Amino acid sequence: MKFFIDTADINEIRDLAETGLVDGVTTNPSLIAKTGRDFITTVREIAGIVPGPVSAEVTATDHATMLKEGQKLARIARNIAVKVPLTRDGLKTCRRLSDDGVMVNVTLCFSAAQALLAAKAGASFVSPFVGRLDDVATDGMQLIQDIVQIYRQYPGIKTEVLVASVRGPLHVVAAAKMGAHVATLPPNVLRQMYAHPLTDKGLAAFLEDWKKTGQSILGAADGLGTEGGADKRAAE
Ligand code: G3P
Repeated sequence: MKFFIDTADINEIRDLAETGLVDGVTTNPSLIAKTGRDFITTVREIAGIVPGPVSAEVTATDHATMLKEGQKLARIARNIAVKVPLTRDGLKTCRRLSDDGVMVNVTLCFSAAQALLAAKAGASFVSPFVGRLDDVATDGMQLIQDIVQIYRQYPGIKTEVLVASVRGPLHVVAAAKMGAHVATLPPNVLRQMYAHPLTDKGLAAFLEDWKKTGQSILGAADGLGTEGGADKRAAE
């Protein structure tokens, strides 16, 4: 399963990308607004940090303008995925951009029927919003299950299910069990995924016992030397 980060915060992206666990980034107009920074500059910077897809969303609602915006966004970097809303004009724009070889992420997907249309329009990704469905007392993960099941019926569908509006690690685990291709995680959710009190407790106990031995791994002679076994060869 691929992990994208759902933020436009450059510092967060740099910090998390360093772990080697980040496959891409998703942004949206709200996340860009939160940074208070210039959209194009920010997206260009993000695309230079992560090699994987970086979603940048159009803001027009009519096809002609959306297409121009999408083409402009696609020119920012090779790893841009143009994000379009799941509307009639959005899907028309998706079809056109996909035919031109541009990656498209169809966003604001709230039903399996919409996801079918996104696949038909040649989307590289479809983004169902699980958290926002949960918020209105509808099972967001059931939608992921449905879309994954439907797409599996048709090997010709290349659209990846990108689980969005993720609110916690349980969403991610459930999505992985269902075989969703990607989850886009708010930075705090990725950090929550590391955490387990038994890991912290176990590590503290190991370190306490290790201290009692008075040993140090780096300070110990290992017979291998520091570069390609020089110590070992010298000893032989
Ligand atoms: O990027 C789209 C999506 O992940 C937004 O999530 O938390 O605003 O519902 P949220």
